[in-house]
Amino acid sequence: MQLVGSQPFADLDFVTEDVALAPFTWYKIGGAAKYFVKPRSLEELQEAAKRCAESNIPIYVLGLGANLLVADSGVDGAVFRLNDPFWSNLEIDGTTLSVGAGFDMQKLVLRTAREGLAGLECLAGIPGTVGGGIRMNAGGKFGDIGASVQTVTVMDSHGTVFERKKEDLLFEYRRTNIAAPFILGATFELEKEDPDALAARTKEIWMYKRNTQPLNSKNSGCMFKNPRGANGTVSAGALIDQAGLKGLRVGGAEVSDKHANFIIAHKGAASDDILKLVKIIQERVLAKHGVVLESEVKIWGA
Ligand code: EPU
Repeated sequence: MQLVGSQPFADLDFVTEDVALAPFTWYKIGGAAKYFVKPRSLEELQEAAKRCAESNIPIYVLGLGANLLVADSGVDGAVFRLNDPFWSNLEIDGTTLSVGAGFDMQKLVLRTAREGLAGLECLAGIPGTVGGGIRMNAGGKFGDIGASVQTVTVMDSHGTVFERKKEDLLFEYRRTNIAAPFILGATFELEKEDPDALAARTKEIWMYKRNTQPLNSKNSGCMFKNPRGANGTVSAGALIDQAGLKGLRVGGAEVSDKHANFIIAHKGAASDDILKLVKIIQERVLAKHGVVLESEVKIWGA
């Protein structure tokens, strides 16, 4: 039991206080985390998670911060970052891949393409860790990560580790049925393919994104999910575009001219500018199309 007002992690050298989160996000904006936890082993992760449970401290897990907006006021909780090499193991056995949650998805895309193992090329151009990619079922029109997942190792907030198998995993559009707060790693079943053909396909997918998305600006990918209607999915970007919102600005936040579902953060932008712009876009798209746009980007602390 922790005493009220005491620092619950005082004796843990892998936990720091009041850590600015902006450098860890693609947007490079937002406030600080009350606690920043960088465990170097399963035992350290379990210990920190246990203390969060005891002291009722909300848990947040940070990947590469690509699909994330941190509020200017920061995060009143513990932000975990599994970036120690301990969390980034990779084993390839034939067509089976075993990967730690901290592994960089883009590095994995390149590595598997080189090995002539197909299945993950659909992730070309999507920044993030394997854990973050699984949590969101990262993907797009070329496929998603869930399609080749066989098992996912997770940990609950009490520190119990268990394995979820393909049969009971559900991968839907940008969501999964994994409720445990920590994803520790996963296995994938891939398919043998000629490495040159695979490399060409990977490049094509990457080029598509480069040509249609503002990849050289500060953004967090698509801001809204593509809404599902009776006639299938519509592109949120197309809806925002048709509402005439490209180029709309609030402070340092701007709707991209290249792809309207991207909100760019210019120099000096605050998270609040982005949040205000998000609200305006939602209102205008609702007025024009009668469609409610839901945020795809994770918003912490607002
Ligand atoms: N379009 C417009 N105006 C725009 C943007 C798009 O008219 O400003 C039109 C395009 O011309 C095209 C259609 O909308 O006819 C679809 O556009 P796109 O191919 O870019 O696909 P999207 O549905 O807008 C989705 C994912 C992207 C992913 C791409 C490619 C969502 C919310 N977005 O975008 O994912 O990269 O497909 O696979 O699911 C992300 O999740 O962060 C993301 C960027």
